[in-house]
Amino acid sequence: MSQRVRVFATCDIGDSLNILRSKGYDLEVYPHPEAPPKSLIIERVKSGIDGMITTLRDSIDAEVFEAGKDTLRVVAQIAVGFDNISRADANRFKIPFTHTADVLTEATAEFAFFLMGVLARKMWPAEDLLRDNRWGYWHPYLPFLGDEVTGKTIAIIGTGRIGLAMIKKCSGFDMNMLCFDPAYENHEYIKAIQEINNLRHQRGMCREKTWIRYTSLQEALGNSDYISLHVPLLREGESKTPTYHLINETTLRMMKPSAMLINTSRGPVVDENALARALRENWIAGAALDVYEKEPLPADSPLRDPAIADRCRLLPHFASASRITRLSSDPDKGMAGRCVQGLIDVLEGNYGGDITQMPYVVNKEAFGTRS
Ligand code: GLV
Repeated sequence: MSQRVRVFATCDIGDSLNILRSKGYDLEVYPHPEAPPKSLIIERVKSGIDGMITTLRDSIDAEVFEAGKDTLRVVAQIAVGFDNISRADANRFKIPFTHTADVLTEATAEFAFFLMGVLARKMWPAEDLLRDNRWGYWHPYLPFLGDEVTGKTIAIIGTGRIGLAMIKKCSGFDMNMLCFDPAYENHEYIKAIQEINNLRHQRGMCREKTWIRYTSLQEALGNSDYISLHVPLLREGESKTPTYHLINETTLRMMKPSAMLINTSRGPVVDENALARALRENWIAGAALDVYEKEPLPADSPLRDPAIADRCRLLPHFASASRITRLSSDPDKGMAGRCVQGLIDVLEGNYGGDITQMPYVVNKEAFGTRS
């Protein structure tokens, strides 16, 4: 009797797992909503599983890859970001890992856009006022006013998939855009957006001509009303252009006092202590965060300071959390479906078994081309 393929999922990712069950895989799913302890992951990997489904909460490091060096054939992560997975160690042991890029691009970008709107138009303090029975009258400027995003300037920091999708959405709101990317510039895309902006202006759809261009980090931060982060988390030594604490005391001080920061990328891109201070001392006007240096956000985080609650929106790593995006079993629509398909591609040797041809594998560099 042939051995069944064994897979351990560190989290229940929904109905897409039935695809594996219906193929006869031996599937074990960690049954609790929180992440399993590292010791359990190591133990499962040592037990000889062929594949593992992981979330961004699991640390998949040298110890895990070492434990799986003779048996583990693939790690399939349900996320686009993979800073929890040691690429260097995956490569050292020649274990491919996959991610779920693309299917969450629009959901994440629109969430960043909505966060900007919630912050700019002070929707949370306004609702709080109403619920608190402090809405005494309609008045032209009391108790406070927000700011529109239309016609304003946004810095797009990071122009990968999600940054470009954010640009597309901001262009629909007649925003000017200063783009910065430490590693990759897509001038074709920026040119296309400018052409669309020009056409909208020519056809009388917007009064002012809007513009978009690449620039330096300093210029982008210093001249924007909103700053939205879309870079991957890369620590010192992982890249020539690390992004860890890219937003720190120095870069926060470059921003205008009226600027607002939006982070839907990874928490450690922002130095939270510096940000809390910037908000307390009004170096900038607001921040909306979906991701944190430590998740879940600790009870004693300075970001929870009630003194900055009116200008600091805090969401629970939620940007890709829409039904289709998170759970569809269609690999072209859902993270769960794409995660399962990435796992299957490797375990069943799709694409002629050539890992470099598998669309969802990240660390293709470890596998060279087949002769
Ligand atoms: C979510 O944060 C992801 O990386 O997919």
